[in-house]
Amino acid sequence: MGLFDSLKRDRKTAETVTKQSEEPIAIEDSSYEDNIVIEDVEVIEREVVHEEEKEIPLKPIKSFKEKAPVKHVIGQTKVMAIINQKGGVGKSTTAINLSAALGEMGKQVLLVDLDPQGNSSSGLGIEKSRVDHCIYDVLLNDVPVEDVIIPDVCEGLDVIPATINLAGAEVELVSEMARENRLRDSVGSLRGKYDYVFIDCPPSLGLLTVNALVAADKLLIPIQCEFYALEGVTKLLDSMKRVKTRLNPSLDIFGVLLTMYDGRTTLSKQVVEEVRSYFGKTVFETLIPRTVKLSEAPSFGQPITQYDPSGKGAQSYINLAKEVINRG
Ligand SMILES: Nc1ncnc2c1ncn2[C@@H]1O[C@H](COP(=O)(O)OP(=O)(O)OP(=O)(O)O)[C@@H](O)[C@H]1O
Ligand SMILES: [Mg+2]
Repeated sequence: MGLFDSLKRDRKTAETVTKQSEEPIAIEDSSYEDNIVIEDVEVIEREVVHEEEKEIPLKPIKSFKEKAPVKHVIGQTKVMAIINQKGGVGKSTTAINLSAALGEMGKQVLLVDLDPQGNSSSGLGIEKSRVDHCIYDVLLNDVPVEDVIIPDVCEGLDVIPATINLAGAEVELVSEMARENRLRDSVGSLRGKYDYVFIDCPPSLGLLTVNALVAADKLLIPIQCEFYALEGVTKLLDSMKRVKTRLNPSLDIFGVLLTMYDGRTTLSKQVVEEVRSYFGKTVFETLIPRTVKLSEAPSFGQPITQYDPSGKGAQSYINLAKEVINRG
């Protein structure tokens, strides 16, 4: 059974139908799960199959030689690491949706999945079992970077996938020569071929993340609007400073992105204030709202601009893409 079959099965079995007793069920805003109030309801588990439910097509995996011709002249390639060692703050969601939005705006974008979880790969419909090589082979097996690029995954968007093999890289890199420079050396050969290269980092400050810090020109730091929002940020900035001093003098923050913003809560508003006073102008104007659609899209292997093009999630990532372009 393929990845999507099992995801669809999980989705179906998780669904329930509710039978109403005396009191009505109050659902104030169906886009927010925490708003649903269900009282005195008998819940019957039953498999529900939606009529509109379709087979999810697997993305064709082409070789780099089959890539569609690029129609514009590429200027300076900007390499950006999407980084925060804190888990679940929206790195992969941002990597997928910002890359796809920029691709749809006519930019040439490469997304490098540097996380052994491979969420950026699967979230874009790349079934990892069908991939011959991944970023691991570039870092440790001297496979040329072009051989692992999957072109045209979406409009203007190529992807270097990650598979579970990458989990070993953290340990295996330790004994390698020039271990911190591996990614920079391979990504360097792609300068001039893309407008943007985004690196989706794992939630740690290990050697993979250090490789991203060395390879990147700039950092994009997603911060979740939650109570411990700034926890760990000093450690991240320390790592950035150390890499800047020793290995990558021009490294800097490109932008700080507030994610999973819920405008109805005071906490979200306080976090925005706190983060803006800490980072100042580097914080993007665009706030990424918390929406169920953004969390559903990866299980359909689609960026939000395809899964729910008219929703507020898609609009927020389009606004972010515009800000990224305007920041130069
Ligand atoms: N704006 C949003 N609204 C609702 N859910 C979101 C939003 N952004 C991310 N999520 C969900 O939150 C979870 C964590 O997001 P994501 O995987 O992007 O974070 P991450 O920083 O890449 O995590 P990790 O550190 O594990 O790599 C996922 O289930 C994702 O679908
Ligand atoms: Mg991730």
